[in-house]
Amino acid sequence: MQLGKCHNPEAPPIASPPTSSATMPLLDDPTPTHHQTFRLHSINSTILIRQFPTQGISFQLWPAATTLLTLLDRHPTNTTPLSSSFNICGRRPRILELGSGTGVVGIAAAALLGANVTVTDLPHVLPNLQFNVDANAGILEVHGGAVDVAALSWGESKDMEAIGREYDLIIGSDLVYNDNLYEPLLETLKFLLVGLGRSEKKVVFVMGHLKRWKKESAFFKKANKLFDVEVVYNDAPFDGSRIGVTVYQFVSKPADKLNT
Ligand SMILES: C[S@@+](CC[C@H](N)C(=O)[O-])C[C@H]1O[C@@H](n2cnc3c(N)ncnc32)[C@H](O)[C@@H]1O
Repeated sequence: MQLGKCHNPEAPPIASPPTSSATMPLLDDPTPTHHQTFRLHSINSTILIRQFPTQGISFQLWPAATTLLTLLDRHPTNTTPLSSSFNICGRRPRILELGSGTGVVGIAAAALLGANVTVTDLPHVLPNLQFNVDANAGILEVHGGAVDVAALSWGESKDMEAIGREYDLIIGSDLVYNDNLYEPLLETLKFLLVGLGRSEKKVVFVMGHLKRWKKESAFFKKANKLFDVEVVYNDAPFDGSRIGVTVYQFVSKPADKLNT
C-alpha cells in the first residue's frame, strides 16, 4: 500500500499541459468526444480523460482543474503550498471531490497521493465519470490509489448522509460559477467541515477557482462567516487573460467564532 508520500527529495517538473486528440465522434456514437492526456511527471504516468464538449459544463475540463493537477503533481517533493493539506501520513488518505465533472483531479489525487478518493457529481454526470475512472484503472492499480464514483447533489441531505463525513480532505475546482449554487454548495461544505467533533483534527477544503464575476464575492462573504478562508496559491494568468486561478483553503472556524 502506498501511503501519503510524505518525503521525496527529488524535484520533478510540473505537470505537462494536457495534450489533446482531435474532437471526433466515436464510430457507434454521434456525440463528439474529446480525449485528453495529462502527464503526471512525479509518478511517470499518464491519465486519459474523455470529454463531451457539446454536452455542457459537466463534461469538459475547467481551468482550475489544471492548476490543482499541477499542484498535486508537485506534492511528492513538497514544493507546493498545499503540502500540509496533502500530507496525510500514516494511512491511506480519504478524499472527497465535489463537482468532479470529468474526474481528472480526483483520479490524479488517488494516483499521486495513493489515496481513496470519492469523486461526485450530479446523477447525469456519473456515467462519464465512471468511464474515466475505469479508463485509468491501470495507473491506480500501480500507484495504490482507489476511486469510487457517487452522486452528490449539493444541499441534498439524502446524498450528504449517504456520502458521510469521514474524509481527511475535500477538494474541488471551478465550483463557484452560478449564484443559484452558492447556498447548496455552502450547505454541503458546512456538513462536511463544521462541527465534526474531532477536536484534534480540522478537515480542509481545497478549492481551485477562476474568478469570472463580481457577484462571486457574495459566496466568499458567506463562506467567511463559517470558515477561515485563506488564499494559498495564485496561478499565472492564462494566455490572453488578466486573471489566473486562485487556490483557497477553507477550514471550519472554532465553534465560539462561528457566525451562522
Ligand atoms: C464548472 S464545472 C467544474 C468541473 C470540474 N470540477 C473541473 O474543474 O473541470 C462544475 C461542476 O459542478 C457540478 N455541479 C453543478 N451543480 C451541482 C450541484 N447542485 N450538485 C453537485 N454538483 C454540481 C457540475 O455538474 C460540474 O461538473
